[in-house]
Amino acid sequence: MLTWMLVSAAFAADPAAGKVLYAASCTACHGTAGNGKGPAAIALKPKPSDFTAAAYWAGKADVLVATAIRAGRPGTSMSSFTELSDADVADLVAYLRSFSATAP
Ligand code: HEC
Repeated sequence: MLTWMLVSAAFAADPAAGKVLYAASCTACHGTAGNGKGPAAIALKPKPSDFTAAAYWAGKADVLVATAIRAGRPGTSMSSFTELSDADVADLVAYLRSFSATAP
């Protein structure tokens, strides 16, 4: 985790690049709008979070979001995306944050 933080400080996250990755790997469940209502989500338990909700982002550190992407969420259909580079993950986190206009 510390390594990720140190590495992530070395470059600026690019939400536009995150959008491309998100479109390829995440929309089926999390939805194009990031609201957790992708076409596959109807069958999921638990349902994906609503990334457009300010409440979702309240007090949430980037490293927690990055870790969920890297390691997945055991007990849910969120698998681990181990093939992504640190830059990819940082870009994704920046893009996810952009779904909520009020995300800090
Ligand atoms: C097969 C469906 C599916 C796919 C594909 C998927 N997710 Fe998830 N994701 C989930 C579910 C279900 C959860 C667990 C509920 C939750 O915490 O949102 C989750 C959780 C998360 C969380 C943690 C939310 C939290 O705070 O606990 C993040 C961040 C996330 N996904 C991002 C992504 C990203 C980025 C991608 C693409 C690289 C992706 N997911 C692909 C279904 C999916």
